Amino acid sequence: MKVVPMKGCKECCTAPESKGDPPILPDNRGDLRAHSYETASYGIATYTEDLGSSPSVRKTLPLSPGSDLSGTAVHCASPQAREVLPPSPAAWTEEEIRSAWEWPLEKVVREARECTDRLWGRKVFLRGLIEVTNYCVQNCLYCGIRRDNGKVERYRLSEEQILEIVQEGFRKGFRTFVLQGGEDPEYSPSRLARLCEGIRRVVGEEPAITLSFGILPPKGYRDLASAGVNRYLLRFETSDPTLHTYLRNGIPLSRRLKALEDIRNAGLEVGSGFMVGLPGETEETRIRNILLAQELQLDMGGIGPFIPHPDTPLAGSPQLPLELSVRSTALLRLALPDCNIPATTAAGSLHPEGRERMLSAGANVLMPNLTPPRYKRAYQLYPGKICVDEPGFACTSCLAIRVAGIGLELSWERGDSLRVKRLRNPRGGITHAE
Ligand code: 5AD
Ligand code: SF4
Ligand code: FES
Repeated sequence: MKVVPMKGCKECCTAPESKGDPPILPDNRGDLRAHSYETASYGIATYTEDLGSSPSVRKTLPLSPGSDLSGTAVHCASPQAREVLPPSPAAWTEEEIRSAWEWPLEKVVREARECTDRLWGRKVFLRGLIEVTNYCVQNCLYCGIRRDNGKVERYRLSEEQILEIVQEGFRKGFRTFVLQGGEDPEYSPSRLARLCEGIRRVVGEEPAITLSFGILPPKGYRDLASAGVNRYLLRFETSDPTLHTYLRNGIPLSRRLKALEDIRNAGLEVGSGFMVGLPGETEETRIRNILLAQELQLDMGGIGPFIPHPDTPLAGSPQLPLELSVRSTALLRLALPDCNIPATTAAGSLHPEGRERMLSAGANVLMPNLTPPRYKRAYQLYPGKICVDEPGFACTSCLAIRVAGIGLELSWERGDSLRVKRLRNPRGGITHAE
Protein backbone atom coordinates (compact mmCIF):
# COMPACT_ATOMS: atom_id res chain seq x y z
CA MET A 1 0.00 0.00 0.00
CA LYS A 2 1.30 3.42 -0.93
CA VAL A 3 0.62 6.66 0.88
CA VAL A 4 0.62 9.63 -1.46
CA PRO A 5 1.33 12.98 0.13
CA MET A 6 -1.04 15.80 -0.86
CA LYS A 7 0.59 18.51 -2.87
CA GLY A 8 1.51 21.59 -0.90
CA CYS A 9 0.97 20.06 2.49
CA LYS A 10 4.17 19.56 4.40
CA GLU A 11 3.04 17.80 7.50
CA CYS A 12 -0.29 16.14 7.86
CA CYS A 13 -0.21 14.57 4.43
CA THR A 14 3.42 13.51 4.42
CA ALA A 15 3.99 9.85 3.86
CA PRO A 16 5.37 8.05 6.90
CA GLU A 17 9.08 7.40 6.67
CA SER A 18 10.07 3.92 5.61
CA LYS A 19 8.87 2.07 8.66
CA GLY A 20 6.88 -0.47 6.70
CA ASP A 21 3.21 -0.15 5.90
CA PRO A 22 1.18 2.13 8.09
CA PRO A 23 -1.29 0.35 10.35
CA ILE A 24 -4.81 -0.13 9.04
CA LEU A 25 -7.56 0.28 11.55
CA PRO A 26 -9.91 -2.64 11.95
CA ASP A 27 -13.22 -1.98 10.22
CA ASN A 28 -15.13 -1.37 13.39
CA ARG A 29 -12.71 1.41 14.34
CA GLY A 30 -12.77 3.00 10.91
CA ASP A 31 -15.30 5.64 11.76
CA LEU A 32 -13.98 7.42 14.77
CA ARG A 33 -17.04 9.65 14.90
CA ALA A 34 -18.61 6.80 16.77
CA HIS A 35 -16.04 7.31 19.50
CA SER A 36 -16.85 9.38 22.53
CA TYR A 37 -15.08 12.38 20.99
CA GLU A 38 -18.05 13.04 18.77
CA THR A 39 -18.52 16.80 18.73
CA ALA A 40 -22.28 16.75 18.55
CA SER A 41 -22.51 15.21 21.98
CA TYR A 42 -19.82 17.36 23.48
CA GLY A 43 -20.94 19.58 26.30
CA ILE A 44 -18.94 21.91 28.49
CA ALA A 45 -18.88 21.60 32.25
CA THR A 46 -20.89 24.07 34.21
CA TYR A 47 -19.93 24.54 37.80
CA THR A 48 -22.49 25.77 40.27
CA GLU A 49 -20.65 28.40 42.25
CA ASP A 50 -22.90 28.18 45.30
CA LEU A 51 -21.90 24.61 46.06
CA GLY A 52 -18.69 25.72 47.68
CA SER A 53 -15.90 23.21 47.43
CA SER A 54 -18.21 20.46 46.30
CA PRO A 55 -18.89 21.31 42.69
CA SER A 56 -21.33 19.36 40.61
CA VAL A 57 -20.40 18.97 37.00
CA ARG A 58 -23.32 19.02 34.63
CA LYS A 59 -23.31 18.67 30.89
CA THR A 60 -25.59 21.57 30.15
CA LEU A 61 -24.16 23.69 27.40
CA PRO A 62 -24.05 21.70 24.19
CA LEU A 63 -22.17 23.59 21.53
CA SER A 64 -24.17 25.22 18.81
CA PRO A 65 -24.27 23.39 15.45
CA GLY A 66 -21.87 25.95 14.01
CA SER A 67 -19.36 25.26 16.74
CA ASP A 68 -18.31 21.77 15.77
CA LEU A 69 -14.80 22.91 14.95
CA SER A 70 -15.81 23.38 11.35
CA GLY A 71 -14.24 26.82 11.69
CA THR A 72 -10.99 25.46 13.05
CA ALA A 73 -8.03 26.96 11.28
CA VAL A 74 -6.93 23.61 9.94
CA HIS A 75 -3.49 22.92 8.59
CA CYS A 76 -4.69 21.06 5.52
CA ALA A 77 -8.25 21.73 4.52
CA SER A 78 -8.42 19.28 1.63
CA PRO A 79 -11.33 16.87 2.13
CA GLN A 80 -9.17 14.18 0.57
CA ALA A 81 -6.33 14.64 3.00
CA ARG A 82 -5.77 11.40 4.83
CA GLU A 83 -3.30 10.71 7.54
CA VAL A 84 -2.99 7.37 9.17
CA LEU A 85 -3.86 7.98 12.79
CA PRO A 86 -3.40 5.38 15.46
CA PRO A 87 -6.67 4.29 17.05
CA SER A 88 -7.36 6.07 20.28
CA PRO A 89 -7.28 3.86 23.35
CA ALA A 90 -10.32 4.28 25.53
CA ALA A 91 -10.00 7.23 27.87
CA TRP A 92 -10.02 6.21 31.50
CA THR A 93 -13.26 6.54 33.37
CA GLU A 94 -13.78 8.49 36.58
CA GLU A 95 -13.75 5.23 38.52
CA GLU A 96 -10.43 4.19 37.00
CA ILE A 97 -8.89 7.59 37.63
CA ARG A 98 -10.01 7.58 41.25
CA SER A 99 -8.64 4.12 41.81
CA ALA A 100 -5.30 4.88 40.09
CA TRP A 101 -4.86 7.91 42.35
CA GLU A 102 -4.07 5.32 45.03
CA TRP A 103 -1.60 3.29 42.94
CA PRO A 104 2.16 3.45 43.45
CA LEU A 105 3.48 6.34 41.35
CA GLU A 106 5.71 4.13 39.16
CA LYS A 107 2.73 2.02 38.12
CA VAL A 108 0.56 4.92 36.98
CA VAL A 109 3.55 6.58 35.29
CA ARG A 110 4.29 3.36 33.36
CA GLU A 111 0.69 3.04 32.18
CA ALA A 112 0.63 6.65 31.05
CA ARG A 113 3.90 6.43 29.12
CA GLU A 114 2.74 3.24 27.41
CA CYS A 115 -0.45 4.99 26.37
CA THR A 116 1.60 7.93 25.03
CA ASP A 117 3.96 5.63 23.13
CA ARG A 118 1.06 3.85 21.46
CA LEU A 119 -0.53 7.09 20.26
CA TRP A 120 2.27 9.58 19.89
CA GLY A 121 5.37 7.40 19.70
CA ARG A 122 8.59 8.58 21.31
CA LYS A 123 8.34 12.10 19.85
CA VAL A 124 8.42 15.28 21.88
CA PHE A 125 7.01 18.26 19.97
CA LEU A 126 8.82 21.57 20.27
CA ARG A 127 6.99 24.87 20.65
CA GLY A 128 8.78 28.22 20.63
CA LEU A 129 7.50 30.35 23.52
CA ILE A 130 7.54 34.15 23.34
CA GLU A 131 6.64 36.15 26.45
CA VAL A 132 5.16 39.24 24.86
CA THR A 133 4.11 41.41 27.83
CA ASN A 134 4.34 41.14 31.60
CA TYR A 135 1.78 43.89 32.22
CA CYS A 136 -1.39 42.47 33.74
CA VAL A 137 -4.57 44.09 35.03
CA GLN A 138 -5.41 40.99 37.07
CA ASN A 139 -4.29 40.33 40.59
CA CYS A 140 -4.21 36.54 40.95
CA LEU A 141 -2.92 35.77 44.42
CA TYR A 142 -0.38 33.19 43.23
CA CYS A 143 1.20 35.06 40.34
CA GLY A 144 4.49 36.96 40.39
CA ILE A 145 3.43 39.45 37.70
CA ARG A 146 0.11 40.32 39.34
CA ARG A 147 -0.94 43.95 39.09
CA ASP A 148 -0.02 44.87 42.66
CA ASN A 149 3.52 43.52 42.54
CA GLY A 150 5.37 46.82 42.31
CA LYS A 151 8.76 45.12 42.17
CA VAL A 152 8.28 43.81 38.64
CA GLU A 153 10.13 45.60 35.87
CA ARG A 154 7.36 45.76 33.27
CA TYR A 155 8.00 45.38 29.55
CA ARG A 156 6.19 44.92 26.28
CA LEU A 157 7.84 43.50 23.20
CA SER A 158 7.13 45.47 20.05
CA GLU A 159 5.61 43.87 16.95
CA GLU A 160 8.99 44.21 15.22
CA GLN A 161 10.76 42.35 18.02
CA ILE A 162 8.17 39.57 17.94
CA LEU A 163 8.33 39.16 14.17
CA GLU A 164 12.11 38.99 14.35
CA ILE A 165 11.97 36.20 16.96
CA VAL A 166 9.35 34.30 14.96
CA GLN A 167 11.34 34.57 11.74
CA GLU A 168 14.51 33.36 13.39
CA GLY A 169 12.59 30.55 15.09
CA PHE A 170 11.03 29.54 11.79
CA ARG A 171 14.45 29.48 10.10
CA LYS A 172 15.73 27.24 12.90
CA GLY A 173 12.83 24.82 12.41
CA PHE A 174 10.09 25.75 14.90
CA ARG A 175 6.60 25.02 13.55
CA THR A 176 4.58 26.21 16.52
CA PHE A 177 4.88 29.59 18.20
CA VAL A 178 3.22 30.26 21.53
CA LEU A 179 2.73 33.95 22.30
CA GLN A 180 1.93 34.56 25.93
CA GLY A 181 1.24 37.58 28.10
CA GLY A 182 -0.69 38.99 31.02
CA GLU A 183 -4.10 40.59 30.51
CA ASP A 184 -2.63 43.75 29.04
CA PRO A 185 -5.12 46.27 27.57
CA GLU A 186 -2.34 47.61 25.33
CA TYR A 187 -2.27 44.22 23.62
CA SER A 188 -5.98 44.33 22.74
CA PRO A 189 -7.58 41.55 20.66
CA SER A 190 -7.44 43.75 17.55
CA ARG A 191 -3.73 44.51 18.07
CA LEU A 192 -3.09 40.79 18.63
CA ALA A 193 -5.02 39.98 15.46
CA ARG A 194 -2.91 42.46 13.45
CA LEU A 195 0.23 40.98 14.96
CA CYS A 196 -0.81 37.47 13.93
CA GLU A 197 -1.65 38.61 10.41
CA GLY A 198 1.87 40.05 10.33
CA ILE A 199 3.29 36.70 11.49
CA ARG A 200 1.37 34.92 8.72
CA ARG A 201 2.80 37.37 6.18
CA VAL A 202 6.38 36.57 7.17
CA VAL A 203 6.20 32.82 7.81
CA GLY A 204 3.12 31.78 5.86
CA GLU A 205 0.52 29.19 6.79
CA GLU A 206 2.81 26.38 7.85
CA PRO A 207 3.46 27.06 11.54
CA ALA A 208 0.76 26.90 14.17
CA ILE A 209 0.15 30.04 16.20
CA THR A 210 -0.96 29.65 19.79
CA LEU A 211 -1.96 32.61 21.94
CA SER A 212 -2.40 32.96 25.69
CA PHE A 213 -3.50 36.40 26.87
CA GLY A 214 -6.22 35.59 29.36
CA ILE A 215 -9.96 36.15 29.11
CA LEU A 216 -11.12 38.06 26.01
CA PRO A 217 -14.62 38.88 24.75
CA PRO A 218 -16.04 36.11 22.50
CA LYS A 219 -15.55 38.29 19.41
CA GLY A 220 -11.88 38.66 20.33
CA TYR A 221 -11.33 34.90 19.95
CA ARG A 222 -13.24 34.84 16.66
CA ASP A 223 -11.18 37.73 15.29
CA LEU A 224 -8.01 35.94 16.29
CA ALA A 225 -9.12 32.77 14.51
CA SER A 226 -9.82 34.85 11.38
CA ALA A 227 -6.36 36.40 11.68
CA GLY A 228 -4.75 32.97 11.45
CA VAL A 229 -4.48 31.93 15.11
CA ASN A 230 -4.89 28.16 15.58
CA ARG A 231 -4.85 27.54 19.32
CA TYR A 232 -5.57 29.35 22.59
CA LEU A 233 -4.38 28.53 26.10
CA LEU A 234 -6.33 29.50 29.21
CA ARG A 235 -5.77 27.42 32.31
CA PHE A 236 -8.74 26.98 34.65
CA GLU A 237 -6.13 26.82 37.45
CA THR A 238 -8.24 24.77 39.89
CA SER A 239 -11.49 22.85 39.65
CA ASP A 240 -12.62 24.06 43.08
CA PRO A 241 -14.95 27.04 42.51
CA THR A 242 -14.48 28.55 45.97
CA LEU A 243 -10.72 28.30 45.75
CA HIS A 244 -10.78 29.70 42.22
CA THR A 245 -12.74 32.79 43.23
CA TYR A 246 -10.36 33.35 46.15
CA LEU A 247 -7.12 32.80 44.24
CA ARG A 248 -8.20 34.76 41.20
CA ASN A 249 -9.20 37.73 43.27
CA GLY A 250 -12.96 37.44 42.80
CA ILE A 251 -13.19 35.95 39.30
CA PRO A 252 -15.45 32.87 39.38
CA LEU A 253 -14.52 29.58 37.76
CA SER A 254 -17.71 29.79 35.69
CA ARG A 255 -16.29 32.89 33.94
CA ARG A 256 -13.16 30.98 32.99
CA LEU A 257 -15.21 28.04 31.71
CA LYS A 258 -17.39 30.38 29.65
CA ALA A 259 -14.22 31.78 28.04
CA LEU A 260 -13.05 28.22 27.24
CA GLU A 261 -16.37 27.62 25.53
CA ASP A 262 -15.93 30.87 23.56
CA ILE A 263 -12.50 29.66 22.48
CA ARG A 264 -13.87 26.36 21.21
CA ASN A 265 -16.78 28.10 19.48
CA ALA A 266 -14.30 30.35 17.70
CA GLY A 267 -12.84 27.19 16.13
CA LEU A 268 -9.53 27.29 18.00
CA GLU A 269 -7.77 24.31 19.56
CA VAL A 270 -8.48 24.59 23.28
CA GLY A 271 -5.71 24.51 25.85
CA SER A 272 -6.27 24.69 29.56
CA GLY A 273 -4.95 23.13 32.74
CA PHE A 274 -4.21 23.74 36.36
CA MET A 275 -1.59 24.14 39.03
CA VAL A 276 -0.88 21.36 41.47
CA GLY A 277 -0.30 22.00 45.17
CA LEU A 278 -2.21 25.25 45.63
CA PRO A 279 -2.95 26.15 49.25
CA GLY A 280 -6.46 24.99 50.11
CA GLU A 281 -6.48 22.24 47.48
CA THR A 282 -7.39 18.73 48.58
CA GLU A 283 -6.87 15.31 47.01
CA GLU A 284 -10.47 15.53 45.80
CA THR A 285 -9.65 18.84 44.06
CA ARG A 286 -6.72 17.16 42.29
CA ILE A 287 -8.89 14.32 41.05
CA ARG A 288 -11.57 16.77 39.93
CA ASN A 289 -8.92 18.78 38.08
CA ILE A 290 -8.34 15.72 35.88
CA LEU A 291 -12.07 15.09 35.48
CA LEU A 292 -12.72 18.69 34.49
CA ALA A 293 -9.90 18.58 31.92
CA GLN A 294 -11.51 15.44 30.52
CA GLU A 295 -14.96 16.99 30.53
CA LEU A 296 -13.59 19.92 28.56
CA GLN A 297 -12.02 17.52 26.02
CA LEU A 298 -8.87 19.62 25.96
CA ASP A 299 -6.59 19.64 22.94
CA MET A 300 -3.72 20.80 25.14
CA GLY A 301 -3.42 20.24 28.87
CA GLY A 302 -0.84 22.34 30.69
CA ILE A 303 -0.19 21.55 34.30
CA GLY A 304 2.61 22.32 36.69
CA PRO A 305 3.50 22.62 40.34
CA PHE A 306 2.46 25.76 42.21
CA ILE A 307 5.64 27.51 43.38
CA PRO A 308 5.06 30.23 46.00
CA HIS A 309 6.37 33.63 44.89
CA PRO A 310 7.87 35.80 47.64
CA ASP A 311 6.22 39.01 46.38
CA THR A 312 2.66 37.69 46.42
CA PRO A 313 0.05 37.14 49.15
CA LEU A 314 0.82 33.38 48.95
CA ALA A 315 4.51 33.89 49.81
CA GLY A 316 4.35 31.77 52.97
CA SER A 317 2.54 28.80 51.43
CA PRO A 318 4.23 25.40 51.58
CA GLN A 319 5.91 23.95 48.50
CA LEU A 320 4.36 20.57 47.77
CA PRO A 321 6.52 17.88 46.15
CA LEU A 322 6.84 17.45 42.40
CA GLU A 323 5.45 13.91 42.66
CA LEU A 324 1.92 15.31 42.87
CA SER A 325 2.38 17.01 39.50
CA VAL A 326 3.90 13.86 38.02
CA ARG A 327 0.90 11.81 39.15
CA SER A 328 -1.47 14.44 37.78
CA THR A 329 0.37 14.39 34.44
CA ALA A 330 0.07 10.62 34.20
CA LEU A 331 -3.63 10.65 35.02
CA LEU A 332 -4.26 13.52 32.62
CA ARG A 333 -2.70 11.42 29.85
CA LEU A 334 -4.87 8.43 30.73
CA ALA A 335 -7.97 10.63 30.88
CA LEU A 336 -7.15 12.39 27.59
CA PRO A 337 -4.97 10.17 25.38
CA ASP A 338 -5.30 12.47 22.32
CA CYS A 339 -4.27 15.63 24.14
CA ASN A 340 -0.93 17.43 23.83
CA ILE A 341 0.64 17.72 27.28
CA PRO A 342 3.68 19.93 27.85
CA ALA A 343 6.42 19.12 30.33
CA THR A 344 6.32 22.55 31.90
CA THR A 345 9.09 24.94 32.87
CA ALA A 346 7.57 25.15 36.36
CA ALA A 347 8.31 21.43 36.80
CA GLY A 348 11.90 22.00 35.60
CA SER A 349 12.22 24.93 37.97
CA LEU A 350 11.07 22.96 41.00
CA HIS A 351 13.29 19.95 40.29
CA PRO A 352 16.37 19.60 38.03
CA GLU A 353 14.73 16.67 36.27
CA GLY A 354 11.16 17.89 36.56
CA ARG A 355 10.53 18.07 32.83
CA GLU A 356 12.03 14.63 32.21
CA ARG A 357 9.80 13.21 34.92
CA MET A 358 6.72 14.71 33.32
CA LEU A 359 7.77 13.34 29.92
CA SER A 360 8.24 9.91 31.46
CA ALA A 361 4.70 10.24 32.84
CA GLY A 362 3.08 10.94 29.46
CA ALA A 363 3.89 14.54 28.53
CA ASN A 364 4.82 14.98 24.85
CA VAL A 365 5.63 18.67 24.37
CA LEU A 366 8.49 20.99 25.38
CA MET A 367 8.41 24.75 25.06
CA PRO A 368 11.85 26.38 24.89
CA ASN A 369 11.56 30.06 25.71
CA LEU A 370 12.65 32.20 22.74
CA THR A 371 12.14 35.50 24.60
CA PRO A 372 15.40 37.48 24.79
CA PRO A 373 17.00 36.80 28.22
CA ARG A 374 16.72 40.43 29.46
CA TYR A 375 12.93 40.17 29.16
CA LYS A 376 12.40 36.61 30.29
CA ARG A 377 14.10 37.46 33.57
CA ALA A 378 11.26 39.93 34.18
CA TYR A 379 8.56 37.35 33.43
CA GLN A 380 8.71 35.47 36.70
CA LEU A 381 5.35 34.00 37.57
CA TYR A 382 7.20 31.98 40.22
CA PRO A 383 10.74 32.19 41.63
CA GLY A 384 13.65 30.11 40.37
CA LYS A 385 12.54 30.03 36.73
CA ILE A 386 15.11 28.10 34.75
CA CYS A 387 16.83 29.05 31.49
CA VAL A 388 16.49 32.81 32.06
CA ASP A 389 20.12 33.42 31.05
CA GLU A 390 20.11 31.15 27.99
CA PRO A 391 18.81 32.17 24.59
CA GLY A 392 15.94 29.81 23.77
CA PHE A 393 17.81 28.36 20.83
CA ALA A 394 20.54 27.15 23.22
CA CYS A 395 17.83 25.37 25.23
CA THR A 396 16.88 23.35 22.16
CA SER A 397 20.28 21.62 22.09
CA CYS A 398 20.12 21.08 25.84
CA LEU A 399 16.63 19.59 25.51
CA ALA A 400 17.72 17.24 22.71
CA ILE A 401 20.29 15.74 25.09
CA ARG A 402 17.86 15.62 27.98
CA VAL A 403 15.12 13.81 26.06
CA ALA A 404 17.63 11.39 24.52
CA GLY A 405 18.62 10.52 28.08
CA ILE A 406 15.12 9.12 28.67
CA GLY A 407 14.83 7.43 25.28
CA LEU A 408 12.73 10.13 23.57
CA GLU A 409 13.47 12.41 20.63
CA LEU A 410 12.61 15.99 19.74
CA SER A 411 10.25 16.55 16.82
CA TRP A 412 9.95 19.75 14.77
CA GLU A 413 6.49 18.80 13.48
CA ARG A 414 3.54 21.05 14.25
CA GLY A 415 2.04 18.35 16.41
CA ASP A 416 -1.64 19.23 16.22
CA SER A 417 -4.00 17.69 18.73
CA LEU A 418 -5.10 14.20 17.69
CA ARG A 419 -8.67 15.09 18.66
CA VAL A 420 -8.70 17.80 16.01
CA LYS A 421 -6.95 15.57 13.47
CA ARG A 422 -9.61 12.91 13.96
CA LEU A 423 -12.35 15.48 13.41
CA ARG A 424 -10.69 16.60 10.19
CA ASN A 425 -10.22 13.05 9.09
CA PRO A 426 -12.86 10.90 10.75
CA ARG A 427 -12.02 7.83 8.67
CA GLY A 428 -8.54 7.85 10.18
CA GLY A 429 -6.99 4.71 8.75
CA ILE A 430 -7.69 5.35 5.05
CA THR A 431 -4.79 6.44 2.91
CA HIS A 432 -4.81 8.66 -0.19
CA ALA A 433 -4.07 5.81 -2.55
CA GLU A 434 -6.99 3.63 -1.60
N1 5AD B 1 3.57 28.83 40.39
C1 5AD B 1 3.35 28.01 39.35
N2 5AD B 1 2.63 28.35 38.26
C2 5AD B 1 2.14 29.61 38.23
N3 5AD B 1 1.38 30.23 37.32
C3 5AD B 1 1.15 31.49 37.74
N4 5AD B 1 1.74 31.69 38.93
C4 5AD B 1 2.36 30.54 39.27
C5 5AD B 1 3.10 30.11 40.39
N5 5AD B 1 3.36 30.90 41.41
C6 5AD B 1 0.84 29.55 36.13
C7 5AD B 1 -0.69 29.70 36.06
C8 5AD B 1 -0.89 30.50 34.81
C9 5AD B 1 0.32 30.12 34.01
C10 5AD B 1 0.65 31.08 32.91
O1 5AD B 1 1.35 30.10 34.96
O2 5AD B 1 -1.26 28.41 35.93
O3 5AD B 1 -2.08 30.16 34.11
FE1 SF4 C 1 -2.28 38.06 35.16
FE2 SF4 C 1 -2.28 35.49 34.33
FE3 SF4 C 1 -0.71 36.29 36.38
FE4 SF4 C 1 -3.37 36.16 36.73
S1 SF4 C 1 -1.98 34.39 36.28
S2 SF4 C 1 -2.03 37.87 37.38
S3 SF4 C 1 -4.12 36.78 34.70
S4 SF4 C 1 -0.54 36.93 34.25
FE1 FES D 1 17.23 25.72 28.86
FE2 FES D 1 18.59 23.39 29.43
S1 FES D 1 16.58 23.66 28.70
S2 FES D 1 19.33 25.47 29.35
